Amino acid sequence: MDNFTMSMPTEVLFGQEMTKNLSDMIKKYNGSRVLIVYGGGSVKKTGIYDMVTDHLKENGIFYKELAGVKPNPRISSVREGIKIIRENKLDFILAVGGGSVIDASKGMAAGSTYDGDPWDFYLRKAKLEKSPLPIGVILTLAATGSEMNGGSVVSNDETERKLPFRHPMLKPKFSILDPTFPFSLPKFHTAAGITDIMAHVFEQYFSPTDSAYLSNRLAEAIMKTCIHYAPKVMENPFDYEARANILWSGTLALNELLTYGKVTDWATHLIEHEISAIYDISHGAGLAILFPNWMKFVLDEDNVNKFIEFAKNVWDVNTKGKTELDIALESIERTREFFDFLEMPSSLTEVGIDDSRLEEMADKAIIFGDLGGFKKLGKEDVLEILKMSL
Ligand code: NZQ
Ligand code: ZN
Repeated sequence: MDNFTMSMPTEVLFGQEMTKNLSDMIKKYNGSRVLIVYGGGSVKKTGIYDMVTDHLKENGIFYKELAGVKPNPRISSVREGIKIIRENKLDFILAVGGGSVIDASKGMAAGSTYDGDPWDFYLRKAKLEKSPLPIGVILTLAATGSEMNGGSVVSNDETERKLPFRHPMLKPKFSILDPTFPFSLPKFHTAAGITDIMAHVFEQYFSPTDSAYLSNRLAEAIMKTCIHYAPKVMENPFDYEARANILWSGTLALNELLTYGKVTDWATHLIEHEISAIYDISHGAGLAILFPNWMKFVLDEDNVNKFIEFAKNVWDVNTKGKTELDIALESIERTREFFDFLEMPSSLTEVGIDDSRLEEMADKAIIFGDLGGFKKLGKEDVLEILKMSL
């Protein structure tokens, strides 16, 4: 196991009706003038918006709001939020939504204490030096783990780029995780969220570090939880136990817990970001297309044991009488079948993407260097995975 430093500063308030603690939490982190950030309106339909704003009014907390953050959040929303924060001297950001709303809020938090343009952070032209505004989260979708990590992924329509920016100071101060909030999710977003959670685990499970035994078992527990509860939640969106377990899996899958002490991969995520940057597809859908192809591409004699572990411990593959390669390929097949069960797309063609811009995506994916910790990928490798995904 490699050396590591652990820091998980986000307070998690998990369970039904935890929103009643919202104003106490905001005050605890010295917030008194709040920017509420939300998406395209689901929070209004579900009543979460009214619940939050009524609560803030009752507790005498001043607020302004920024609505309309899109999935694959745009840098224009981040700039708009910073403007509202400055004009109204706001001191706290409350993100109410899924990963897109939280990620845009993180961009606002960083940008509001920076004199330049917030896109500089994503281009790696600027470093976060001044403390960002504190963020609190009310999560409505299990997927990204953004509610407990320091990552933010934002898109720029003008340049067709979608880039990540990460800093420990961007970890939310608190996150409220009420398993009833995702009850209203359409099947597609529930499924895309579960796919994303699985993909986060894959990125950390497929590692060249052999000695991180504990981390691997934790990863398997999260994958098995998703596999166990996915059919239940797809059948009944109001299944509290299923929603609760999936919600907590999403947070644990990307709050660094699985990363400590090992090298991780992240190639598939960076390739997916290039697809959604141009074609604006759902992140989870892009991952469902790419991941089985990435697995097939990287599988070789040196790493076949990792796939056998995956086959046995996650998919309960019966290995009797099968070659190592057969077992490994079966684990990939089972992964594909799981995404098919979730009704996620299996090819780029299926989501209307042809081969015209594959080369450009491969170029952009490696702009900061080769990808992958499990297996290094250069431009030609990325291009091959994209071609396999057509
Ligand atoms: O915009 P509204 O109307 O709120 O609708 C949203 C949106 O259309 C809807 N939704 C959310 N909660 C709902 C709901 N609809 C009904 N009921 C509810 N309770 O769901 C749609 C998708 O929301 P979005 O926030 O885009 O989804 P997700 O949480 O999957 O976030 C995806 C974004 O996060 C980035 C992705 O690249 C993508 O841009 N990621 C962020 C990461 C991070 N910060 O650590 C890591 C991830 O790997 C990922 O890259
Ligand atoms: Zn992801």
